[in-house]
Amino acid sequence: MLKTAICNLLGIKHPIIQGGMVHLGTAELVSAVSNAGGLGIIGSGNSKPEWVRQQIHLTRQRTNKPFGVNILLISPFAKQVIELVLEEKVAVVTTGAGNPGVYIPQFKRAGIKVMPVVASVALAKRLERVGADAIVAEGMESGGEIGETTTIVLIPQVVDSVQIPVVAAGGIGDGRGLAAALALGAQGVQMGTRFVCSEECIAHPRYKEKILKARDRSTMITGQSIGSAMRCLQNKLTRQFLALEKAGTSREELDLFGQGRVYLGLIEGNVDEGSLLSGQIAGLIKEIKPVRVIIEEMVAEAGAIIDSLKKFLQGD
Ligand SMILES: Cc1cc2nc3c(=O)[nH]c(=O)nc-3n(C[C@H](O)[C@H](O)[C@H](O)COP(=O)(O)O)c2cc1C
Repeated sequence: MLKTAICNLLGIKHPIIQGGMVHLGTAELVSAVSNAGGLGIIGSGNSKPEWVRQQIHLTRQRTNKPFGVNILLISPFAKQVIELVLEEKVAVVTTGAGNPGVYIPQFKRAGIKVMPVVASVALAKRLERVGADAIVAEGMESGGEIGETTTIVLIPQVVDSVQIPVVAAGGIGDGRGLAAALALGAQGVQMGTRFVCSEECIAHPRYKEKILKARDRSTMITGQSIGSAMRCLQNKLTRQFLALEKAGTSREELDLFGQGRVYLGLIEGNVDEGSLLSGQIAGLIKEIKPVRVIIEEMVAEAGAIIDSLKKFLQGD
């Protein structure tokens, strides 16, 4: 058993969170993670509010454990999703791609715990001041939208800068990653890529297979030139996208070129033309497993590592 402050804050057994994932954070995955003692999070992405409400209701049919909703602040539906999350009183909200500061008081009044996802110390401090309950600090090893600092560098600096619990995200895929995150001062971990390769995740089998076959250097970053860096597996699309960026293509044209690509890759399994969001930890993932097994193996492995590290204290 690994019990940390994040377990107490969120009412969960294990300090393991499934990060909100566009198209993939559905009731199937979310309820599996929460039923296994972690925290599942619905990925609202750019989805319509009705879809998010449906996923909340479906998740409630499958679990009576706490779960969350991730709100992508750049979504055209972000305001409506915030409204419905307040109405539905979900246990936890995480936010991605922006600063949720203005919304935090509303969530708090509704009794909802707020854990913004940040990539910098400055934003972590600002959000603690306006009432965040915990911070998810996400390093640039992560899949999806990323910042510029690695997890190993970011976590201890965020931990030193805020009083609230910090959750480490980015590049964590097994018990070693969990033990390392705790050693850096985090109170838990959030994973995305590892959970894509779970039995319960609805991701297309061809996309899951690409993650299983990935190596340490299989991902790349697109969108850096227009200030929206995304990490995904290298394929025909990323090569085309980079060529367009190099040619100085405007943001509007790049947005148009990228439209619908994430759904195409993740759900339709078009592994050449679709965007295959993935973290660098893909290189470590070799097997699709049930969520419960992923979580239980991680906790057992982290516990054994923490125990075994004492041997370094014995001298000679
Ligand atoms: C397929 C995929 C989709 C993602 N979608 C979102 C999202 O919609 N909102 C968000 O805040 N983070 C999103 N993320 C980031 C994850 O929630 C999580 O923080 C990240 O994956 C952690 O890094 P890892 O991939 O190394 O485990 C996504 C990640 C992946 C792999």
